Amino acid sequence: MEVESLPCHVGIIMDGNGRWAKRRGLPRIEGHRVGAETTEKIVVAASKLGIKYLSLFAFSTENWKRPKEEVNFLFNLMYQYVLGKLELFLENNVRFRVMGRLRELPSYLQEGFKEIELKTSHCSGMTAVFAVNYGGRQEIIDAVNRAIKDGHLEITEEVLRSYLYIPELPDLDLLIRTSGELRISNFLIWQSAYTELWFTNTLWPDFTVEEFKKALLDYSKRERRFGGINEK
Ligand code: FPP
Repeated sequence: MEVESLPCHVGIIMDGNGRWAKRRGLPRIEGHRVGAETTEKIVVAASKLGIKYLSLFAFSTENWKRPKEEVNFLFNLMYQYVLGKLELFLENNVRFRVMGRLRELPSYLQEGFKEIELKTSHCSGMTAVFAVNYGGRQEIIDAVNRAIKDGHLEITEEVLRSYLYIPELPDLDLLIRTSGELRISNFLIWQSAYTELWFTNTLWPDFTVEEFKKALLDYSKRERRFGGINEK
């Protein structure tokens, strides 16, 4: 694939773990466990393909409504995943970042995230951003409140952007959502004003690198005008 037609920033809503498990008569957490394996494959593939930023929706601010056992399982899985995959991140020159209302997360998880962010901070290849306890509206509210605290009397796009969780995170070029749902679900709403959307019925645990490449190929054929016109 031509490098110039690759999206710089890809976001993924990794949906369908629960349904994948249910169809097999397995507990929901089994779907998350296999889903985490898919995440690993896609992180490695995306970094090898030359994607610069990959944002993954791992836990939304609304996901607290799930049974406590499932929430705890997800936090444990993320903890094991990020710390267990340190070597993999380093081998692939992947920088790990996390964004969301992190202070509401269990302290062991906050510490784990801090550790892996620090240990991969020198990696200059792809940045993998895990959105955890993340909501797009909450991100905007948090940004505005921090700007007010700093004394800003007027918010411009530039000011707001500079207060987002990861200010250097560019606008989202391509958003992929699995499992057949056709929604954005409060993911990166500031950054997705001009995003190309790509949906598949595949459930996240069944999502493959081949299908990821298909999404990138479809993206490369789209004409993006950003509200203007393209003179051919
Ligand atoms: C959506 O499936 C998935 C989530 C809420 C969690 C996403 C988490 C993972 C892919 C694994 C997390 C761990 C790492 C290390 C990334 P769902 O439970 O909403 O599925 P359903 O819609 O079929 O119920």
